[in-house]
Amino acid sequence: MSYPIRRVELGDAPALQALFCCPSVIRNSLQLPYPSLAHWEKRLAEIPDDTHALVACDGANRAIGYGALLQAPQKRRSHTASLALVVHEDWQGKGVGRQLMGALLDYADDWLGLTRLELHVYADNERAIALYRQLGFEEEGRLHADSFRDGEYVDGLLMARLRGALARRG
Ligand SMILES: CC(C)(COP(=O)(O)OP(=O)(O)OC[C@H]1O[C@@H](n2cnc3c(N)ncnc32)[C@H](O)[C@@H]1OP(=O)(O)O)[C@@H](O)C(=O)NCCC(=O)NCCS
Repeated sequence: MSYPIRRVELGDAPALQALFCCPSVIRNSLQLPYPSLAHWEKRLAEIPDDTHALVACDGANRAIGYGALLQAPQKRRSHTASLALVVHEDWQGKGVGRQLMGALLDYADDWLGLTRLELHVYADNERAIALYRQLGFEEEGRLHADSFRDGEYVDGLLMARLRGALARRG
C-alpha cells in the first residue's frame, strides 16, 4: 500500500496531537505525555527554516505518520541533520514508517545534499532499529542512562548514515 506524503501543515495539529497521545509513540520518543492541541499549533506555526517536516497520510489526507529532518544550525555541520520518525499506533507495521523514511532520505540526499544523517533511538526499540539498519544506518555508540522514561533511566543508541565520500572513509 502507498501513502501520500506531503509537507506538514498548520491544519495537521489535531492529527499530530492524536499521534503523540499513542502510548508507544510517547514511550519511544523524547516527547512528554499528554500533549495539548495548543502545543502542536504553536510548534507547527514556528517550524524553523532548517527543519523539514513531512507527513504520511491516510485516504482522507489525515496525517498518520510524521517525520522530520533537523539540519544542524552550525555552518561547519551543515552537511548533517538529525532525523525523527513516528507512526500512529493504528497504522504501525503497515509500511508507513518505511515509506516516510524513504521520502526523508530522498529529500536529504537529492534536495539538501546532506551526507551525514543521525538519529537517537532507545536501545530496546528493536522495530525502529531494524528499520534504520535496513536503510543504511549504523550504530555509533551507546548513550548510557541518557533519558528518563516511565520511572527509570534508559539507554539510547546514536545511529548514523554516511553517504558518498564520507561513507568510504571507514
Ligand atoms: C518504529 C516505527 C516508526 C516504524 O514504522 P512502521 O510503519 O510501524 O514500520 P513499517 O511497517 O514501515 O516496517 C518497517 C520495518 O520495521 C520493522 N518492523 C515493523 N513492524 C515490526 C514488528 N511488529 N516487529 C519487529 N519489527 C517490525 C521491520 O524491520 C519492518 O521492515 P519489513 O517491512 O521489511 O518487515 C513505528 O512503529 C513507530 O512510530 N513506533 C513508535 C515510535 C517509534 O518507535 N519511533 C521511532 C523513534 S527512534
